[in-house]
Amino acid sequence: MRVIECDSQDQAAELVAAEILAALARKPDLVLGLATGSTPIGVYERLVAAHRAGRADFTRVRTFNLDEYIGLPAAHEQSYRTFMKRHLFDAIGIRPGQVHFPPVEGNDLAAACAAYELTIKNTGGIDIQLLGVGSNGHIGFNEPTSSLASRTRVKTLTDKTLGDNARFYASGEGPPQMAVTMGVGTILEARRILLQSFGTKKAQAVHAAVEGPISSFWPASALQLHPDVTFFVDAESASLLSMRDYYRRVRANELRLRGR
Ligand code: F6R
Repeated sequence: MRVIECDSQDQAAELVAAEILAALARKPDLVLGLATGSTPIGVYERLVAAHRAGRADFTRVRTFNLDEYIGLPAAHEQSYRTFMKRHLFDAIGIRPGQVHFPPVEGNDLAAACAAYELTIKNTGGIDIQLLGVGSNGHIGFNEPTSSLASRTRVKTLTDKTLGDNARFYASGEGPPQMAVTMGVGTILEARRILLQSFGTKKAQAVHAAVEGPISSFWPASALQLHPDVTFFVDAESASLLSMRDYYRRVRANELRLRGR
């Protein structure tokens, strides 16, 4: 597990976008696992800028989103399908056939979730999974007590998550209570995982994920089982880490070895 404490959210977004663009240059048909929410927006802005500058070609990329709400039509202002179109897909000219979202319609969601898993597998698996983290330690919508072996399925959102997301809804409307999310087990199968976390609100979750015992009570702690995870955190999110100086030293040594 690598922890990179960044000077700012912009620096974190810059580093993550650079990783994705380098991977895309090596593999034009890259398979990306994508997150929504406020955290990845800076990364998406940089991918769009690279595309506009002719530095990135997304015509062969395939994407799989982590989660989607049940009960919101695709065109709803707050659906994750709308979010992705607005922040990334429309601006990089991605075609509908290249993108995949967890299924939230139809009367056999369990079968549709199994089909989503199979599509990920048949596409060759996710090369890079982008993650944020909830203040309660969720990744995707794998809320505390989610099985660490879980697969794509329906989850009921906790009061904590509903409260965190209430800001996006007009008073009286309220956020949806349920979502379909990739499971923790699904996420752990990605070849590489890049997680960003910003702000004091996430400090306890970052501490539990990086330094706590592996526990379904803090689903992000399952990332300790993965061989290639990097946390890009700002100073606020890093504030509860007990080995903060060590992570800085590891990073400095890594840059020194790379000759930078
Ligand atoms: C979104 C997702 C969630 C968010 C998390 C943090 O697709 O899977 O796990 O990453 O809730 O949300 P923000 O970034 O809004 O703080």
